[in-house]
Amino acid sequence: MSQTKIIDGKAVSAQIKQQVAVQVSALNEKGIQSCLAVILVGDDPASRVYVNNKKKACEVCGIRSLEYTLSAQTTQDELLALIAKLNQDPDVNGILVQLPLPRHISEDAVISAIDPAKDVDAFHPINVGKIMQGTCTLLPCTPAGIMELIASTEIPVAGKDCVVIGRSNIVGKPMAMLLLHKNGTVTICHSKTKDLKQKCKAADILVAAVGIPKFVTADMVKEGAVVIDVGINRLEDGSLCGDVDFDGVAPIAGAITPVPGGVGPMTIAMLMQNTLTATKDQNKVS
Ligand code: GUN
Repeated sequence: MSQTKIIDGKAVSAQIKQQVAVQVSALNEKGIQSCLAVILVGDDPASRVYVNNKKKACEVCGIRSLEYTLSAQTTQDELLALIAKLNQDPDVNGILVQLPLPRHISEDAVISAIDPAKDVDAFHPINVGKIMQGTCTLLPCTPAGIMELIASTEIPVAGKDCVVIGRSNIVGKPMAMLLLHKNGTVTICHSKTKDLKQKCKAADILVAAVGIPKFVTADMVKEGAVVIDVGINRLEDGSLCGDVDFDGVAPIAGAITPVPGGVGPMTIAMLMQNTLTATKDQNKVS
């Protein structure tokens, strides 16, 4: 049996951030700054960590970051007014509203209020449509990061049987589209899928985005498959664990992402890439 490759998301993400930093600095020489506005509503501790990590990545890339921390009682109208202001501000290139939002605020209304040109999450319905067409310059961060990780294995997607477990708007659905655009044959599985085990076992590329710790076990994985674990689950003992039973699956897989240190760091790297792309598009430079 050939050796399993552990895909190093930290290393790939550091490389991408480095490339973004070089391009941001080239823009600076033309007198163009890049700026990302991040809005956090409420005090969800996990969201706080994500927002802090986004700020740190901006620093690494030379992107200016603006943080708006709003109380959990902020009304939807107040949030929409802030978004409208940032949409109008020519110095702001990217706008990200950290999800989830408090229950009294409609995520759909908020996402739809962001100028699609500044929508660095690529969640706006216009961008979702363009992702389906393959014409969106802003890519959904987690799926785009996963495509980079797959590319790092040098295993081509074309003609491969790809199985995505999970059909969320943030990961599962756009993931399927990006794999399809690379000519993969894609199956999206979910909680109502029958014969899930057999479908997974037929996959050359298996992406797990279910949110259930160690859901994917060794008997569900084909020998030599590329296994991508999107899950970040906190166990009772405080440790982090993915959707894949890493210890069981790693000896079978051809390549596998660890948790942490796999997909997680890629999402932020691609956010930096999108902020750079948005800045270039808005300034009409390549
Ligand atoms: N919350 C969890 N994932 C994400 C993401 O990719 N973008 C935003 N804005 N919020 C999130």
